[in-house]
Amino acid sequence: MDRVDIYNSLAEHIHNKDAFFKQLQSLPIDVVGDLMLNIPDEFQAVKSMLPRMAPDEIQRNWNGSSGYDLLLQSCAFMRTLECGVNRFSGRSLDGSKILDFGCGWGRLIRLLYKFTDPANIYGCDPWAKSLEICNESNLTASLALSNYLPTELPFPRVKFDFIYSYSVFTHLSEKAARAAVTACRKHIADDGLLIITVRPRSYWSVHPESQNHLAKDQMLADHDEKGFAFTPHGLGTPASVDGEITYGDTSITLKYIADNWNDWVVVGTEYFLQDQYQMLVFLRPRH
Ligand SMILES: C[S@@+](CC[C@H](N)C(=O)[O-])C[C@H]1O[C@@H](n2cnc3c(N)ncnc32)[C@H](O)[C@@H]1O
Repeated sequence: MDRVDIYNSLAEHIHNKDAFFKQLQSLPIDVVGDLMLNIPDEFQAVKSMLPRMAPDEIQRNWNGSSGYDLLLQSCAFMRTLECGVNRFSGRSLDGSKILDFGCGWGRLIRLLYKFTDPANIYGCDPWAKSLEICNESNLTASLALSNYLPTELPFPRVKFDFIYSYSVFTHLSEKAARAAVTACRKHIADDGLLIITVRPRSYWSVHPESQNHLAKDQMLADHDEKGFAFTPHGLGTPASVDGEITYGDTSITLKYIADNWNDWVVVGTEYFLQDQYQMLVFLRPRH
């Protein structure tokens, strides 16, 4: 890859936004990712068409790492998502309508430019700060505030081909997780997929003591007996609803999903080594 050739190919389209984003779709996913971090100042016009990255501190707060380390993980997730979508739905992310549920600062939304037009890209998050950062970074997508315990998604009458949710169900309480999958079911196309990430049982042996002191034995027992283990983060977080904390750390089994989320059918799973504590679960709507 010669980066300068790529910047020049994009510079030809800076006066036509549609053509610019079509040109992005012709590039490999890692090249699209690289563009988010790495455009020299002499290509200012190209740079101004793309979202700015969130400051490193925000990346670390939301995702635990930043810069290229995080970008490599983000691109690996996107490739794993694309591969599973092909395998488990026979469809493609290309040209589809996609929602990032719990989009945070818009880390993964910007990689969707590889697959589809900005008009097809949606993101929601219940934390106003997340959307504020997305908007400050000049992200081109439809963004809206959701609820911590949603009954609907904040996009009335929109049906998505694919909804993905990375590192969100790894944090939700049982009630919040159920509300989320129920709301997503109302907004999925008949032949669409919901893709979430979940943590395995082994997560509890690496759960950081600095996050909160917890009875690991209790988490392991909940995981084994109920299939769902959750420890809340502190009270006073924005995710407290009516005194109940909806956000913390969570592990979920596939059996729990099959037994409890009856609107959905598990059609497959995927892994990627860049984050072994985030298993992708592919769900199709039950009809
Ligand atoms: C660890 S961050 C991950 C952000 C983003 N998905 C990513 O991978 O970069 C978790 C996100 O979930 C959001 N969140 C918290 N509670 C939620 C809920 N009930 N429904 C959807 N998102 C939620 C948070 O505001 C935060 O942006």
